[in-house]
Amino acid sequence: MKITVVGAGAVGATCADNIARRQLAQEVVLLDIKEGLSEGKALDMFQTATLCGFDTKITGSTNDYAKTAGSDVVVITSGLPRKPGMTREDLIGTNAKIVKGVTDNILQHSPEAIIIIVSNPMDTMTYLSLKTSGLAKNKLIGMGGILDSARFKTYLSLALDCPPNDIHGVVIGGHGDTTMIPLTRLATRNGVPVSQFLDNETLQKVAADTMVGGATLTKLIGTSAWYAPGAAVAELVESIVRDQKHVFTCCVSLEGEYGQSDICLGVPVVIGKNGWEAIIDYKLNDEEQAAFARSADAVRNMNDVLKTLEL
Ligand code: 2OP
Repeated sequence: MKITVVGAGAVGATCADNIARRQLAQEVVLLDIKEGLSEGKALDMFQTATLCGFDTKITGSTNDYAKTAGSDVVVITSGLPRKPGMTREDLIGTNAKIVKGVTDNILQHSPEAIIIIVSNPMDTMTYLSLKTSGLAKNKLIGMGGILDSARFKTYLSLALDCPPNDIHGVVIGGHGDTTMIPLTRLATRNGVPVSQFLDNETLQKVAADTMVGGATLTKLIGTSAWYAPGAAVAELVESIVRDQKHVFTCCVSLEGEYGQSDICLGVPVVIGKNGWEAIIDYKLNDEEQAAFARSADAVRNMNDVLKTLEL
């Protein structure tokens, strides 16, 4: 297996580090446009091999896509991260051109690759990459909902004062501060609905905290988070390369599912060697379905902005 991560910023480097340590590929290539950055971070990462006990080869590349040739999976994190006070959507003007260019360059050398999009606004960047690449829809996976679900489970575990891994919870819809939908009705602690332990006011606060989970960290850190995004990408990559068939919320192309078409949005999907392999219908209630439709409308408005950009 060969895996490329485009963008050697905090998120991209953490993705590469997680992938290498889990030994998900024989080689990880880290590419960036900034002279020497990816070579330096790749070498630093590779110097942990004898300390952390992995053999993954880690290669850096300053904008030489030939080094990415034959990649099985490509993670696109390139573009600007947001700063405090910004929404993910504020990044579209800069990041759309970057993501389109990266997608074109990657596919020249790895035409069969599965692409994971992290760059924001992620739902729209996934849609852009799908439309410009012409790739089969199952090969385009937007990473957002798996991260939002991790934050949702974390906040629930804090509210319940219990181990995070005792919690199962799902966030669907857009990867935006106002478009994501934490499904509190379906969340459980060891299989028991969390509503048996938490009152509605607490549950609504957990959902609200989840929705701005990324913005909260950006305000504290001064830039986008990277540890949880990097680990979330590694989970997706592992389910692909090991064909594990895990179900995660990912941003994928909808053709009627959940009542939406011609859009990429976060829904539960089976992740395996072919990319996303099936969409799972969670049978939303009327309130959840209406929220999903509102989320889709907001993301579709962002997708329409693409038509106004010179890409
Ligand atoms: C986040 O929510 C980077 O969008 C990502 O942290």
